Amino acid sequence: MLSNLREEVKAAAQESKIIAGFNIFGAEDAIGVIRAAVKRNAPVFLMINKDALKLMPMKSWIDMLKPMIESLPVSIGVHLDHCSCPDTVIEGIKSGFSSVMYDGSQLPIEENIYNIRRVIEEASRYDVAVEGEIGSVPYEDIPGRAKDICTEPMELERFSDEGQMDWIAVAIGQVHRMQTRDSKISFTSLRELERHTEKPLVIHGGSGISEEDLFRLKNTGVGKINVGTALRIPFFKTLQREIKENPFVYDRDVLFEKPTLAVEIAADKILSILGFE
Ligand code: 13P
Repeated sequence: MLSNLREEVKAAAQESKIIAGFNIFGAEDAIGVIRAAVKRNAPVFLMINKDALKLMPMKSWIDMLKPMIESLPVSIGVHLDHCSCPDTVIEGIKSGFSSVMYDGSQLPIEENIYNIRRVIEEASRYDVAVEGEIGSVPYEDIPGRAKDICTEPMELERFSDEGQMDWIAVAIGQVHRMQTRDSKISFTSLRELERHTEKPLVIHGGSGISEEDLFRLKNTGVGKINVGTALRIPFFKTLQREIKENPFVYDRDVLFEKPTLAVEIAADKILSILGFE
């Protein structure tokens, strides 16, 4: 069933679990994630980012995903990921996303707070959960897309107190879109940040985090982790192999079967690490 997962993220931040948010770019990777979520009985977010919005408008994503999840035995969130325009986030809220991220991380804190409060006012009318970000997580392969700024504890405290959001994404050394798992996570910074907010924390750039660090993160105030590249790679590597091995097959259902399974296996592994055994 569709859910804003507000309670699940809050509970995960207090327990030895983390709720995964998986970026998806089409029906096949959504199906792979959903199968893994059902198998593990794990609530998950299907996340739509601005690259996915180049493929289909918001309303079409919602219209495609809602029927896929409404009769499932597990709660699934449909989340608008990394959206830096408040009006677009509000459009997302009205379109039917169950949670949204307003990303004001590149702005001065005053503007970040002002904009997220506008978003929250609208979100509360629709019972949509809101994620904010303070500090900034860079991108490995897109220099300049976001700054590299570790979250300052006092800024987190102010953002948390004045912003009224549900969860807060923080920067503690992780990097988006890494193809290897060697982010340098600062657990010292994380422990310090935890002392400045009661709200669940969110970690972006989950693909670059080692298994060992993911296990450690479960026992912190982190309630949600975003994972994109760790599913994109198995999906497209498998698809490339399928096309090479079957040069005269032109049937989508045949060529996409193994890539969908590859996403399911990758998501399943991540969910098991995150506490859904
Ligand atoms: P990765 O692609 O590095 O896992 O990051 C995903 C993400 O943080 C989306 O918000």
